[in-house]
Amino acid sequence: MCGIVGYVGPKATLDVVLAGLGRLEYRGYDSAGVSVIGENGKLETRKKAGKLANLRNSIAENPLPSSHIGIGHTRWATHGAPTDGNAHPHLGGTDLKLSLIHNGIIENFAELKAELVAAGTVFASETDTEVAAHLIAAEYARVGNLTDAFANVVKRLHGAFTILVIHEDEPDVVLAARCNAPLVIGLGDGENFLGSDVAAFVEHTKRAISVGQNQIVILRADKVELRTFDGEPVEACEFTVDWDASAASKGGWSSFMAKEIADQPQAVADTLMGRLRSDGSIWLDEISGFSTDDLKAIDRIIIVACGTASYAGDVAKYAIEKWAHVPVQVELSHEFRYRSPIVTPNTLVVAISQSGETMDTLMATRYARELGARVLAICNTQGATLARESDAVIYTHAGPEVAVASTKALTAQITAGYLLGLFLASARGATPRTELAKIGRELLKLPAKITKVLDGLEQAKALGTEMANAKSVLFLGRNVGYPIAMEGALKLKELAYIHAEGFAAGELKHGPIALIEAGQPVIVIVPSPRDVDSLHPKVVSNIQEIRARGARVIAIAEQGDTEVSQYAEDVIFVPQTLPMLAPLLTVIPLQGFALALATALGLDVDQPRNLAKSVTVE
Ligand code: F6R
Repeated sequence: MCGIVGYVGPKATLDVVLAGLGRLEYRGYDSAGVSVIGENGKLETRKKAGKLANLRNSIAENPLPSSHIGIGHTRWATHGAPTDGNAHPHLGGTDLKLSLIHNGIIENFAELKAELVAAGTVFASETDTEVAAHLIAAEYARVGNLTDAFANVVKRLHGAFTILVIHEDEPDVVLAARCNAPLVIGLGDGENFLGSDVAAFVEHTKRAISVGQNQIVILRADKVELRTFDGEPVEACEFTVDWDASAASKGGWSSFMAKEIADQPQAVADTLMGRLRSDGSIWLDEISGFSTDDLKAIDRIIIVACGTASYAGDVAKYAIEKWAHVPVQVELSHEFRYRSPIVTPNTLVVAISQSGETMDTLMATRYARELGARVLAICNTQGATLARESDAVIYTHAGPEVAVASTKALTAQITAGYLLGLFLASARGATPRTELAKIGRELLKLPAKITKVLDGLEQAKALGTEMANAKSVLFLGRNVGYPIAMEGALKLKELAYIHAEGFAAGELKHGPIALIEAGQPVIVIVPSPRDVDSLHPKVVSNIQEIRARGARVIAIAEQGDTEVSQYAEDVIFVPQTLPMLAPLLTVIPLQGFALALATALGLDVDQPRNLAKSVTVE
């Protein structure tokens, strides 16, 4: 939520900051704003409600001076409506020489604001953020040193915040503080950067430092200092970004989402690379810190995640339980955090998150660690807080996911879940190695099979376009098809804003079948007829039950399933694979369907309303 950029160096600051905001806009697009200190020494600010394009237009009409220091913000509104006035940056002091941007929520803002109002401060916005701007300006007036004033004030703020400040009277420094919200430093040559994530600066530098909790950054063109909130120096831990800037651009596609759907064979192949050998055997170096005895001692796995990532967790549950014989429960992070889960030192908590910054998932993992569990992260973003705070990390190598709706991150997370299942099964001797190798070899074929599904994606897209006027779409699945049904429904809700529900097909007759009326579109994920668990005939029966009540059925079935064609108006065939691995194929048409339906409605598929990519507030 909210994207933050800071820059100090010789380049044209406005260009650097606006380009960074463009790459971070997926984090929030309720408003955008920038402040620079011009070569004339004056602080100047432009900010505008709505998307970044509005800010660009406003700067075109009212240009900013050339400058070598600046900050920029793209907002997902929390306190205060998405108006020009509530847009960041916010100015502090009666002289308005200080400019501040913020990602997060200042929970004690009401009492701090009362203190300022009593002292005569006049507020220009309804935000919690403006409180911090005035407090720092007042403290600066008192102590005469911006860094000291900044440090004194951030210690008084409660909640979640990353804050960046510049001041006209100290025009060579950007100050930043991080508490429960993301912040990464980019190290350049005679220039330095700050960003909510590395996408903000990856086109300029691949050298980065992830800022820790309760730390302050003092950023100058030629020097970067890190301190704790109490003033203790912190040794920076540098890493190299392995994304390249072109991965975060549309590259000729109509949308980031379309590009990211097409990226999936690569995302899955890259996630498997170096971990699965051609003979199907597996090695996960990332969890080599867990001894075989540790892995054998695990008696329960709890997967914590939110939204689409939780559906990846649901798929992982089926695989891990089947292959590794360990009980797995999947918990929405925000629910797990606020109950009394049974966690012991033999519990492995697996936290799945594309961004690695989802506050609910971070809070869940912290809680799990307090309770004595070890935490393994499945994460897509280097340097993310989740990765830093976990005992081990399996990185998904999906590359930057810019569209708000998750696609390639999901398939990479599912892939990582399979790898974990195979690794645990192997370490615990739960499934014969020959069987695991067979699964591994099939997994290696999945990128090519996904490409085949993508080659035929037009069919799903045409159906999406055709159904643009549907009031509601239902999705049914069973076993590993169930989380995919829920994912299909989530994609449609978030992209097309229409009612959509995913159900376990077996649950239908326990209530949801009452929703079926003439013409109701229902997309059914049909299990393989080759599956030994014989779920296929049961799902075919479910299809007959809903068709008898007038449903319009679209089936996603595997090639060679001749029976299903008799019962569905449309069948989208995907290549055969092991039933457990089918989610990597069956989810793709659902992504194409939602993309096309939302596009037909004229909606912005990359930036759906009310959403932000990275949910960094609870
Ligand atoms: C839906 C979507 C969200 C995220 C969820 C978790 O398309 O993208 O449901 O999956 O907010 O985000 P991460 O994976 O960053 O923790």
